[in-house]
Amino acid sequence: MLRNICRTPGQRLTLTAAASARWVHLSSNRAATAACGTDGKSAATDKQQPLRPRANALTDEIIRVDHAGELGADRIYAGQMAILGNGPMGKTIEHMWEQEKDHRKRFENLIQQHRVRPTIMTPIWNVAGFMLGAGTALMGEKAAMACTVAVETVIVEHYNDQLRQIMESPNPDKELLETITKFRDEEQEHHDTGIECGAEQAPFYKAMTEVIKIGCKTAIAISKKI
Ligand SMILES: [Fe+2]
Ligand SMILES: [Fe+2]
Repeated sequence: MLRNICRTPGQRLTLTAAASARWVHLSSNRAATAACGTDGKSAATDKQQPLRPRANALTDEIIRVDHAGELGADRIYAGQMAILGNGPMGKTIEHMWEQEKDHRKRFENLIQQHRVRPTIMTPIWNVAGFMLGAGTALMGEKAAMACTVAVETVIVEHYNDQLRQIMESPNPDKELLETITKFRDEEQEHHDTGIECGAEQAPFYKAMTEVIKIGCKTAIAISKKI
């Protein structure tokens, strides 16, 4: 079924011709990366839709954890904006934040439509996300970008794992595939923007990104289950 599955953030999932003809072309064109100083807002991605049948176990887990992750991402960028919003990186961070708001809104709609229980950790991720964003921003613009690179690296891998799971399931949810593919590509852009804006020059880059990655992976594991 799967011809080529890429695990690194810089790569793409591709499907067999048969699979891609059936539902979706996953190699979406990557929009021009939001380079340092780029302005712009992403279009709203969703509107309210009617209730659907209750989600199966896989869909339930995916929607719960992705809702938590996008909430956390929204708060991370909110924290960065609170500290760096009026500086030279303000427009770049704002552009990424706008996309994260769309991601969060989309999963808030999905959680309602499929009647999925949100993680009980929501209030914790809300505060922890803002503190992570603001805390790294207080260390400087490059540290903020290092935080972005670490978080987005984990999220791109996480979304790629989910795309594999969905494609291998008996009844792949086409809409969820398309949503996660689009968001995965935008998270990859955020990662690349972080690198372009000097993340690797942040003090203690290696140590800081490793700690943040472990934190993100732990949050994902918890949010899947509770
Ligand atoms: Fe996101
Ligand atoms: Fe992102």
